[in-house]
Amino acid sequence: MPASSDKTPVQTPSTEAPASAVLVCDWDTARERARAIRYSVFVEEQGVPVELEWDDMDAPSWHALAFAQDGTPVATGRLLPDGHIGRMAVLRVARGTGMGASVLDALMAKAAELGYGELILNAQAHAAPFYARVGFEQVGGEFEEAGIPHIEMRKRLG
Ligand code: COA
Repeated sequence: MPASSDKTPVQTPSTEAPASAVLVCDWDTARERARAIRYSVFVEEQGVPVELEWDDMDAPSWHALAFAQDGTPVATGRLLPDGHIGRMAVLRVARGTGMGASVLDALMAKAAELGYGELILNAQAHAAPFYARVGFEQVGGEFEEAGIPHIEMRKRLG
């Protein structure tokens, strides 16, 4: 189980990214900033048990980081090698400003570049319209994960 030192401060300045850019990178590059955002959103805000938040799929995944105008990383998400998109998280203060859409667009573009035929995600039910607006469609019924209602959604690429 991760120790309390996992709670990295969110205000980590970025020097390599221009304002409002999205960086798509490996886990070594994203780790500190992605973990801080995910800890704030999933563990602190949504009450997801910390041991469910961290898994062994971060290392083989591509990660997107979106930055506020001042260079602060405010949004993240990941693309797994099997075509799943997950861990989409935008800091509360930055929601509704297009950051989530930028991260999702960057992950979809990466998947297309890699030649993936289909994207899959388990959406929190409240966020389904966010994914539906870019072509994800619900598959099957609602189910629970970490105590939160989810639905599976898929989108064909190419
Ligand atoms: N329901 C309906 N529409 C939504 C929505 C929601 N929950 N969230 C965003 N949208 C719409 C916006 O209105 C906007 O529409 P527009 O293009 O017509 O203006 C579009 O989606 C893009 O919104 P954006 O500002 O990029 O969304 P965001 O940065 O707030 O990110 C989440 C969306 C869901 C990733 C973000 O709210 C979040 O991190 N929530 C907490 C964690 C979470 O629930 N993650 C999802 C796990 S599946």
